[in-house]
Amino acid sequence: MSHKQHNQEEAKIKPNESTLQSNTGSYYNVTVMDHFTNPRNIGEMTEEEADGSALLGDPSCGDQLRLWIKVQDNKIVDIKFKCFGCPGAIATSSMLTVLAKGKTIQQAKQLMDNDVIIALGGIPEIKKHCSLMGVGALHQAIKDYESKNLKY
Ligand code: FES
Repeated sequence: MSHKQHNQEEAKIKPNESTLQSNTGSYYNVTVMDHFTNPRNIGEMTEEEADGSALLGDPSCGDQLRLWIKVQDNKIVDIKFKCFGCPGAIATSSMLTVLAKGKTIQQAKQLMDNDVIIALGGIPEIKKHCSLMGVGALHQAIKDYESKNLKY
């Protein structure tokens, strides 16, 4: 599906729906809007600062996500991301970083896209694939970290 086709199906923003916390329709809820307009842990790390990193794209829409993790004592002590994508991609990536920060590597590996969707109080059905990018990038960054820290 091209980006143009995607935009035609874009979920709508409904800023005055302050009480809406779950959403299976076509509107972003207030939690999603909050993470879209005020993304947490946005930024980047240098190669020296990061212990693992990932670059992931969603081939269905062309959106892209870069993610960095800093690991100390087997825990993700810092995480940063930069996203070129739709509001759903930015909000789900932001929530993913909130969920991942402070987790052990083993706990972070258990995080799935559904955890992100639940933490956001739901996202529109047509935007559910956006959450896959954040989770995929986290798992890729962990693999990168592990590949650099393999002990023989
Ligand atoms: Fe591409 Fe959301 S439409 S990640």
